[in-house]
Amino acid sequence: MTEMRRLIAGNWKMNGVGSALTEAEALAEALKAGPAAMRVALCPPATLIERLARTVEGSAVEVGGQDCRAEASGAFTGDVAAAMLADAGAGLVILGHSERRSFHGETDADVAAKVGAALAAGLEPIVCVGETLEQREAGQAVTVVQAQVAGSLPDALIGKAFAVAYEPVWAIGTGLTPTVEQIEEVHRAVRAAMVERLGETARKAPILYGGSVKPSNAAEILNTPEVGGALVGGASLKAADFLGIIRAA
Ligand code: PGA
Repeated sequence: MTEMRRLIAGNWKMNGVGSALTEAEALAEALKAGPAAMRVALCPPATLIERLARTVEGSAVEVGGQDCRAEASGAFTGDVAAAMLADAGAGLVILGHSERRSFHGETDADVAAKVGAALAAGLEPIVCVGETLEQREAGQAVTVVQAQVAGSLPDALIGKAFAVAYEPVWAIGTGLTPTVEQIEEVHRAVRAAMVERLGETARKAPILYGGSVKPSNAAEILNTPEVGGALVGGASLKAADFLGIIRAA
């Protein structure tokens, strides 16, 4: 790992069946015609990873999962192991997304264990942190995300390729975004916590911003100091919208 490699990742969440692959194909073709300034990844539902990986093969589009289990195998009905994602064609995995933390009760310790599993399987983790509206209004945004960083990033990340995504919970899927000053403040705090936790090599990991990123606000957000890319939900489902964000970088 030498230079910081900035990344724009699309998180399809629980959206998309086979017909959605046409969007991935359109994205792959567009990036062949005009390369992106940053790395680009799509994280589809687990059922689509293998087909999507085949669809974008030979293009710059990388493929990721949205979660994995910490254990390598076993009696965990419905769950997916990191090695299974890698076997299906994923190179990255989103971990600790706020929807996992809230709907599945994932703690920082759970996320840290999943990060370890992802690294063991050769996957690059994208570790998500972010405060709720209540926490922001109470003036706790920085302390909350710094605690999440401290608890969710295991030692195993030292010297490894990974990203952290700052996603304020109140900005996800709401159309609301923090000001660029607020984004910069939290990203600087996240960077400080990463370096405190993992040492100087953590300066090389990009910090992505996530939460209502769209073509119209992408340039401003991506040009904010310490923003090393974006994690994009709704606007990654259509190639045209996602490309609008990618081209703003
Ligand atoms: P959004 O989701 O872009 O739809 O707000 C972002 C995310 O949850 O990763």
